[in-house]
Amino acid sequence: MEAEKLKSEIIRLKKEKNAVILGHYYQRDEIQDLSDYIGDSLALAQMAQQCNNDIIVFCGVHFMAETAKILNPSCKVLLPDITATCSLAESCKGEDFARFKAQHPDHMVISYVNCSAEIKALSDLICTSGNAEKLVRSLPEDQKIIFAPDKNLGGYINSVTGRHMLLWDGVCMVHDAMRAETVMKLKLEHPDAVVIAHPECNGALLKVADFIGSTKAMLTYIEKSGKKKFIVATETGILYEMRKNNPDKEFITVTAKEGCNCADCSYMKQNTLEKLYTCLRDETPEIVMDADTIEKAKLPIIRMLDLSKQLGIIK
Ligand code: 13P
Ligand code: SF4
Repeated sequence: MEAEKLKSEIIRLKKEKNAVILGHYYQRDEIQDLSDYIGDSLALAQMAQQCNNDIIVFCGVHFMAETAKILNPSCKVLLPDITATCSLAESCKGEDFARFKAQHPDHMVISYVNCSAEIKALSDLICTSGNAEKLVRSLPEDQKIIFAPDKNLGGYINSVTGRHMLLWDGVCMVHDAMRAETVMKLKLEHPDAVVIAHPECNGALLKVADFIGSTKAMLTYIEKSGKKKFIVATETGILYEMRKNNPDKEFITVTAKEGCNCADCSYMKQNTLEKLYTCLRDETPEIVMDADTIEKAKLPIIRMLDLSKQLGIIK
């Protein structure tokens, strides 16, 4: 089926089935266009919790769709490509993490939302890149903390808060692959540009960034900035929203690999128009979870949302 027909069929099926499409900023442009809500993982988790549709089609990766199911278990949650995972989630397996946790019984566990429900169920508090720093700062200074699974995000928070959180050895394969040298070369070519980076980037790159923040924080920063040129160290999908909101500004991508001019997350790009259409039509692949995991994983997510409201991060 050609693209225009696929789009009209998706819109028709969505209405017919009382479905909502939630799309992450890293999705393909055409999927972002069809999404009822586009957002970062924190905003999409909130949206999933609040919506009263019969079906959520989550255009993102597996852990995001799982989070939607945990927060809205009576809703049918579909993920166009069920194999769309994340290198961070894959780096942290339940059995290994339970062993690590048992070795540090006096530590509380904060897990980045980019992890499986199994890891969430082993955690005390979940965070996203949009709230991690403030959540950690809100805890007593002598509180011992394990931070999983992103050592770059955890290391960044340690550096700005002066904490000594124990870090799980996981990375985002896209952000970690971006090099500080690439940024320095771009800075020489564009001396008037501001460097903005996601905290999943490695420490060396973050050192040469002018602004560090989550996808949403970067969007807000660009909109408020008087500058006209930005070197962007994050996944390429976000450039669609950046360009749409700021047609007068220029964006330069920090490539993740030599000889490639993008920084695409291959997992995020697994969802296609075709898969979105068949998923809505056939109501599969569906996120199916047992009630016990949902209950256990829900607690630290609700704690995150409550604390984020208390701290004024979200409404
Ligand atoms: P956000 O929490 O900023 O949406 O990022 C999610 C993600 O997967 C980053 O790589
Ligand atoms: Fe995971 Fe990185 Fe892809 Fe985000 S960009 S989904 S952290 S692999």
